[in-house]
Amino acid sequence: MTELLNNWENGRWIGQTLEVENGVCAVPQKPNADALAYTDEVKAATDHLYDEVSDFIPKFEWSAYAVLVHAINKLKKEKNAVVLAHNYMTPDIYALVGDFKGDSLGLAIEATKTDADIIVQAGVHFMAETSKILCPDKKVLIPSLRAGCSLASSITGEDMRLIKQKYPGVPVVTYVNTTADVKAETDICCTSSNAVQVVESLGVPKVIMAPDEYLAKNVANMTGVEVIAWHGRCEVHARFDADDIKEMRAKWPGVVVLAHPECPPDVVAESDFTGSTKAMTDYVSDNKPKNVVLLTECSMSDNVAMANPDVDFVRPCNLCPHMKRITLQNIYDCLRDEKHEVKVPKRIAKKARRAVQRMIDLPAPGKKGHFDPKAVHKDIKII
Ligand code: 13P
Ligand code: SF4
Repeated sequence: MTELLNNWENGRWIGQTLEVENGVCAVPQKPNADALAYTDEVKAATDHLYDEVSDFIPKFEWSAYAVLVHAINKLKKEKNAVVLAHNYMTPDIYALVGDFKGDSLGLAIEATKTDADIIVQAGVHFMAETSKILCPDKKVLIPSLRAGCSLASSITGEDMRLIKQKYPGVPVVTYVNTTADVKAETDICCTSSNAVQVVESLGVPKVIMAPDEYLAKNVANMTGVEVIAWHGRCEVHARFDADDIKEMRAKWPGVVVLAHPECPPDVVAESDFTGSTKAMTDYVSDNKPKNVVLLTECSMSDNVAMANPDVDFVRPCNLCPHMKRITLQNIYDCLRDEKHEVKVPKRIAKKARRAVQRMIDLPAPGKKGHFDPKAVHKDIKII
């Protein structure tokens, strides 16, 4: 167990936090002073970056961040590497070293477009595997091998083979939040931004949709398709409930409530808008609500707030312990040493690629990716 120093206030990160072995939060460890010094060169190269993150990083801690940011950005150039940063990364990573930022669909598409030799996935393991599946010739690195996902670990390839035996001929839609061997058993993948569109694109009366029970229920409510679902849940979004929203509305009258479709259906019904992390980001930029709450991972509000200084964010949120395992320090370490390379066996990657590529080949989801709070609830089969 390494040293613990949490600087959280009302659910909002207000300062440096050291690596926590049991997983709550990990914003950079103290840099090794011998290896990375805050020189005049570092200062000159990074001073202009501080403004963007000044709400999140106290000035007295900036030098500790600046040395890592400078070192990572230098290594990226030397090694022709890019950092793909998910919307749940802390603001230091998101704003200062992320080359491409977005939701899981956006990052997968960026992976196919980049001509970098190395991809550093600032996100969780299934996202890095997706990049590797799409770019077998690139080196894909994940800064922490322990950055997992409760959904991805809820189902195995063997589970999926048994489901297919039980429901022969029923097409399988798999959420990208799965391991490569599950994707390999799949007809088409989906993300939270295109799940409704993917299910409808099949033109069939019945689908198997795994592993997120709540996403499957939310999709079933939006389509005329019968959905058979697995019992996986996101440990972050499953914790929100409809009473939380009623309390928020009572406490902050007029607050606009945005939810992620991994939330339970009663949360979607109580929210004003439900969509992927990108859809939520776009909603705030397009509508500029006076007061907004994002029912999702905590760093989302911080990152969206940077681009929308005129919007007030109410901060109830839940931390994803897996996403929070990624730090500036371990991004630097993995890029410097080219360690924690993600590999997918060729036979599995080939089958999984078909399912991921089939999803990517669909047109952009647009409004098809949004979930209607007034949708009529349906009962679905959970296995
Ligand atoms: P998005 O596809 O909306 O980025 O979501 C990924 C995720 O893991 C949400 O918990
Ligand atoms: Fe997985 Fe939920 Fe974390 Fe997303 S927020 S990575 S679905 S555990």
